[in-house]
Amino acid sequence: MFQTLHETVEYIKLKCNNFQPEIGIILGTGLGGLVNEIDVEFSLMYSNIPNFPISTLEFHSGKLIFGNLNGKKVIAMQGRLHYYEGYSMQQITFPIRVMKALGIQHLFISNAAGSLNADFKKGDLMIINDHINLQPESPLRGRNDSDMGPRFPDMSQPYQKDFIKRAMEIAAAEKITCHQGVYVSVTGPNLETKAEYNYLRIIGGDAVGMSTVPEVIVANHMSIPVFAISVLTDEGFGDVLVPVSLEEILETARAAEPKMTKILSQLILSL
Ligand code: HPA
Repeated sequence: MFQTLHETVEYIKLKCNNFQPEIGIILGTGLGGLVNEIDVEFSLMYSNIPNFPISTLEFHSGKLIFGNLNGKKVIAMQGRLHYYEGYSMQQITFPIRVMKALGIQHLFISNAAGSLNADFKKGDLMIINDHINLQPESPLRGRNDSDMGPRFPDMSQPYQKDFIKRAMEIAAAEKITCHQGVYVSVTGPNLETKAEYNYLRIIGGDAVGMSTVPEVIVANHMSIPVFAISVLTDEGFGDVLVPVSLEEILETARAAEPKMTKILSQLILSL
């Protein structure tokens, strides 16, 4: 991987005048609006970056954005990659390796997820404080590059406690309903059956989604502190499971987005 990584990083450095980001941001489904807060200096389409996987989803725009957000130099992925698109775990987490090589010291992640907890309603936010990985493999499977991280990385605190505390304080000050909970990652792309939602709740999940955990594992492998937040776009609990469409998920994510943007942007300001 070293050679491909080197090639990609050198290309980006050249195109972006050696821009050195401090913070990496991954924007989830329907949550690209934080980009409007960024004072953009450079922007690269994934399709033009050597070795970069291309987002196959028309609602994920697939751009790497470089700029300033609240006085910090950031690199934002507008459009993430999912395992269900057919890429390997190594491919979908390659951008995290790239961002680390470019210099990021923190990683902020957002996603859309289904609620499994009857107290967490559609449209609410949930800060992820732990996860359960139900995707079929780890992005660390295969030979370990010990220059990047250890063979058996510790996962006792995958989400930085201090970020969680600060974000909860920001949410309280802004009167935003924000929960904390466990995110379960599944492969998708189908949503869950009623029995599956029930099972995910029983094993300890508060929310379920199709992303995030691979990126978090790779960030932990490279000792990058992570903050991750979900917008709860549908409810997988209760006696009756209401059918949901992608349009509704996107609509709910967009409606809740300003709350999430406020928390992320103030959190970045506080660093
Ligand atoms: N399940 C899985 N992924 C999701 C969901 C869900 O209910 N909502 C948004 N992403």
